[in-house]
Amino acid sequence: MRYQTLLLLLAMGFTLTRAEIPKMRGYTLTWGDDFLGSAGSLPDPKNWIVDIGTQYPNGPPQWGNGEVQHYTDNSENLKLVGDGNLQITPLKNATNAWTSARIESQRTDFQARSGGRMRISARIKLPDVQGDQALGYWPAFWTLGDAYRGNYQNWPAVGEVDVMENINGADGAWGALHCGVHPGGPCKEPNGLAKFNQCPGTSCRGNFHVYSIDIDRSYRPETITWSVDEQVYHHLTEKNLGVAAWAKIFHHGHFILLNVAIGGYFPNGHHGSPTPLESTVPGKSMLVDYVAVYNSV
Ligand SMILES: *[C@@H]1O[C@H](CO)[C@@H](O)[C@H](O)[C@H]1NC(C)=O
Repeated sequence: MRYQTLLLLLAMGFTLTRAEIPKMRGYTLTWGDDFLGSAGSLPDPKNWIVDIGTQYPNGPPQWGNGEVQHYTDNSENLKLVGDGNLQITPLKNATNAWTSARIESQRTDFQARSGGRMRISARIKLPDVQGDQALGYWPAFWTLGDAYRGNYQNWPAVGEVDVMENINGADGAWGALHCGVHPGGPCKEPNGLAKFNQCPGTSCRGNFHVYSIDIDRSYRPETITWSVDEQVYHHLTEKNLGVAAWAKIFHHGHFILLNVAIGGYFPNGHHGSPTPLESTVPGKSMLVDYVAVYNSV
């Protein structure tokens, strides 16, 4: 085989499993992580904090939403795969405790500036698990307002944007906004302002899709849209919440989180009783190819 052909084939194989962080016309890349690094290593500590245990110091127990797993920084739960993907894997250990992983960006300043636009995106393959085996699985890609870090008691007023949440191996993903007060308020807590969407082309489970939010402050009313593979399925404006609640969320910086929880109010509520069950299988991973934040130039 000619050397050039070999290189081409290698390059093709490489792009099938991982994509470069794409450029976006009219935007600059503010921050991103391609999760390149040696197999088995943790995500770059310059970019990420690894959450450990069952709560923040002085935060609510079970991370505030009834999750049952312990987060660890063990490579079985959290690692770079070595091909440019981050892998988060829930496991059940020898004493029947669930373990998993959750990371959050060091930076807390992601926002659309006044008059500008911002996109937050990630290319993610959800765990390939469904039915009884998936009960309690709760992978998520989301943001929280900067004031949450170090406080941990001010949710949902700080604002939470769920770019992608999946529960119980559902054939799709939710996008949601949480804000204001709990219960009730402008975001109708505890449910938030949420919408479910099936991934275009192939199932969200076991296939890579690009999950994005776009925040547009370049005209009034200001808006947020949720999309998968560029197909918009959820849209809210500052009029839906009122300008004061909107500004408390979107005129502040946010940080980004990636995790796979096991159990908790959202999967329990949909199942109608507590999760996980004996049928829930450990070891089904979420893969994240890249995370990116773009701001309009
Ligand atoms: C299982 O995980 C829990 C929570 O992290 C831990 O307390 C326990 O010691 C672990 N058991 C074993 C056998 O590793």
